[in-house]
Amino acid sequence: MTLSGWIIYNGSLNSEKFMDFAHMLQTAAHKQGINALIYKNNDIMSYLSLNPQIIQAKKKNLPDFVIFTDKDIYLAKQLELLGVPVFNRAEAIATSDDKIATYQCLAQLQLPIPKTIVAPKSFTNEIHTDFYQIDHIIEALGLPMIVKEAFGSFGEQVYLVHTKDELIEKTQAIHGRPFMFQEFIKTSYGKDLRLQVVGDQVVTAMKRTAKDDFRANITAGGTMEAYKPSNYEASLAVKATKAIGADFAGVDLLFGENDEPIICEINSNAHIRNIYECTNINPADAMISYIRNQLSAKGEQV
Ligand SMILES: Nc1ncnc2c1ncn2[C@@H]1O[C@H](COP(=O)(O)OP(=O)(O)O)[C@@H](O)[C@H]1O
Ligand SMILES: [Mg+2]
Repeated sequence: MTLSGWIIYNGSLNSEKFMDFAHMLQTAAHKQGINALIYKNNDIMSYLSLNPQIIQAKKKNLPDFVIFTDKDIYLAKQLELLGVPVFNRAEAIATSDDKIATYQCLAQLQLPIPKTIVAPKSFTNEIHTDFYQIDHIIEALGLPMIVKEAFGSFGEQVYLVHTKDELIEKTQAIHGRPFMFQEFIKTSYGKDLRLQVVGDQVVTAMKRTAKDDFRANITAGGTMEAYKPSNYEASLAVKATKAIGADFAGVDLLFGENDEPIICEINSNAHIRNIYECTNINPADAMISYIRNQLSAKGEQV
């Protein structure tokens, strides 16, 4: 029996990047003889009643597995509740999406991260000037420091602040959204590593360097080069992926003093086009093989 899978991406995003990721996975699945259909998240809706189900115009049977490249975690969860194996599972996507939740998992396992202080939650639009106890935060983390929103991507919600005034201004600008204060790893200015993890392995990796920005993933003028991680860097990336319960992820590592790796982020839905073009290794092949192995270990026919 041929395995069937759905690849789900977000129907509200027009950007080619998201379609491209879904297509790369579909091509890799077809190469391995798996029948894979691409769906938008809004093609499939959770219908909750005494008989929970999903409703879809195409009225197809549920697949043997789903690859979820989206962050619609309610839908991912509903598919799991209906018994479909979802890669990555909803909980891993939710933890990855929320950088505070990610750092909590990593810190609990004593994995190396930048020192991080979680901003207290507030319910009002106005805050009194000392709500965030700025002096204590500067004392703990020093200046310059990073202010980072819990939800964000492409470096757009990550800020480097140099003075107390800038820090106050930034907290006021993003107040109301979850964020954290974080130690600035200055030895990593404008560079980081991206390691692509599948299961217990790093399948490919690259070093990213920005031209004039502290964020390595700000692409204007930045460069990428293939990178061979050390055993320690690779094992750290695998541990980080497992820490959030993900099957595969793009793990970003910063360069600490003497280049010791520090975990910056775990992307459960990391796009793979850039790393493929940089290293000539397509992680989609390993992702599909991994899913086949997981399903056969669970006794599905493959
Ligand atoms: N604590 C830090 N110290 C130094 N550089 C950082 C730090 N946090 C993030 N960066 C830089 O900013 C980039 C984006 O941060 P990241 O947390 O990965 O957010 P995003 O999800 O937007 O990619 C990283 O790739 C790294 O280059
Ligand atoms: Mg990142």
